[in-house]
Amino acid sequence: KIEHSSPLLSLNNAFEKKEIEAFDKRIHKLLNLNETADIRYSAEPKFDGLAVSLIYRDGKFVQGATRGDGYIGEEITSNLRVIESIPLQIRRAKGYVSFEVRGEVLIFKKDFLKLNKSQEQKGLKKFANPRNAAAGSLRQLDASVTAERGLQFFAYSLHSSQKNNLSGFHSQDLNWLEDLGFPVSTDRKVITGVSSLLNFYENIREKRRIIPYEIDGVVYKVDDLSLHGKIGAIARAPRYAIAHKFPAESSVTQILSIEIQVGRTGALTPVAHLEPIRVGGVVISKATLHNREEIKRKNILVGDFVEIRRAGDVIPEVVNVVKKKRRKENKQFIFPERCPECDSLLTQDLTESILRCDEGLKCPAQLRGSFVHFVSRGAMNIEGFGEKLIDQLIDKRLIVNIDDIYSLKEECLTKLDRMGSKSSKNIIQSINMSKKTTFAKFIYSLGIRNVGTGTASLLAKHFKTLKRLINATCDEFQAITDVGPTVARSIEVYFADERNISMVNNLIAKGVMWKSENSEKQKLRGKIAVFTGSLATISREDAKGLWENSGGTVVNSISAKVHYLIVGERAGSKVKKATQYNINVIDEKEFFSLCGKL
Ligand code: IVH
Repeated sequence: KIEHSSPLLSLNNAFEKKEIEAFDKRIHKLLNLNETADIRYSAEPKFDGLAVSLIYRDGKFVQGATRGDGYIGEEITSNLRVIESIPLQIRRAKGYVSFEVRGEVLIFKKDFLKLNKSQEQKGLKKFANPRNAAAGSLRQLDASVTAERGLQFFAYSLHSSQKNNLSGFHSQDLNWLEDLGFPVSTDRKVITGVSSLLNFYENIREKRRIIPYEIDGVVYKVDDLSLHGKIGAIARAPRYAIAHKFPAESSVTQILSIEIQVGRTGALTPVAHLEPIRVGGVVISKATLHNREEIKRKNILVGDFVEIRRAGDVIPEVVNVVKKKRRKENKQFIFPERCPECDSLLTQDLTESILRCDEGLKCPAQLRGSFVHFVSRGAMNIEGFGEKLIDQLIDKRLIVNIDDIYSLKEECLTKLDRMGSKSSKNIIQSINMSKKTTFAKFIYSLGIRNVGTGTASLLAKHFKTLKRLINATCDEFQAITDVGPTVARSIEVYFADERNISMVNNLIAKGVMWKSENSEKQKLRGKIAVFTGSLATISREDAKGLWENSGGTVVNSISAKVHYLIVGERAGSKVKKATQYNINVIDEKEFFSLCGKL
């Protein structure tokens, strides 16, 4: 596992013209610009592949990683080295010799078809789409298999903490990368004004079919990098860029039956089983119907023909019923009164219009769901611990409580179906690796109702230790900004349950741990910083995050308490004031080095 030098952010999506107008307007506002002022945007296709980060030191490709959760990725250097379009050594031309390139790994449409043909001939499973094929190929343990798959790389951004030769523009960075031999989309363009953005979008949409790889939209980024810091980011997405996605694709098919699924938190979700159909290049045989109200509202009967929509990785859903095709014999779906998994009576959450089974981990579906959640990427991230394995382990009663995962032995795993000694070894290794986590991920992995990654992270930051979290009251939870009464109550209920406390204690006893306050990572503990001017290679928001991740605090104004002033371009009067207070005035490079980065 590798921690990224700065987070690999995601992009906010837009589908409509008015969202693009709002985006442009917001940027004008954030930059205090008059509506008529021109903002230069770099417009590019949005590659539908997998994000990777490539690190070059002294001109050599030294390390490659997947995006992971945006903060921590997985090291895949040897698999990336076999991708021909990734330069292993760059010319020692003028400019940076150490830098990071980010981009996407993908597979050309024609290579995808070839690969699936060969999978079929070998009696292996076909890939659903080029993106999955690229992901599967990159994940190969044997890099020579990756090499055969003909993967491609396209660069979309450059990151460097070196100050010299900074072009200052995203488009220039891309030109520079192209000069050095990195593949960059030739469809990129620097343009101004919303109508040019929309034109660009339409042009690429028309060209989409003849582009040799899959794209799922276009991306607009403010070209002037010095403005990025000023515009900032919200949550995990920058405000200086937006993805303008192509519309979701839809098709019409028939509902064969409706089945109830019981989720991890006991919520019942009706799922439509469909006559399999292709939607946007993927075969769909199930779609979510959300809840009872939704079925009523859309007036859906079993046997109806319905329009199915799918956008990206989102679960397909039923948009509406094709009324013309309805037949008399189509039947209304009757919701069960008892849990289809454990037969207990259901309760109705009046506020949520959701039916629920309240049996908790005694209900097999909830137990299974809790395991799936616990091992998932955003939680404890146990690689290779898939649903099939979980089913077998539950079946054989090798895992009964969540913490049993950490008692599994290689000998038990080899006895399972499709598990050789190599896979068992790998799983045990992943399990052991997952023990080192963060407090936030640990909280998230517990699967407390209404606690997603965001809330988990707030709780971790606020309480810092497990003991304080467990002993906190409902009021203390609510006192945290962004934690409302429902969430606060859920957390309280969770920790009031003895069984949960004992499970948490068992996890710790079995070696689950995270870096605490006073570890090496917190070397900036107590150090107060102020930023001024815009940093060249990182947004203000990210820079703040980096400082805080190392234990430091960021404030807005200079006072005697401040330790560092970090100065970017076009710094203001703070520099003078800082010198009066004898505060350390440092530049971007020193800032990165204090945070322990490149
Ligand atoms: S820029 C802060 N440019 O889309 C900007 N991303 O939804 C972040 N992507 O994880 C990335 N094509 O992997 C950028 N031309 C492009 C892209 C692109 C595809 C991916 C990227 C990112 C995801 C965010």
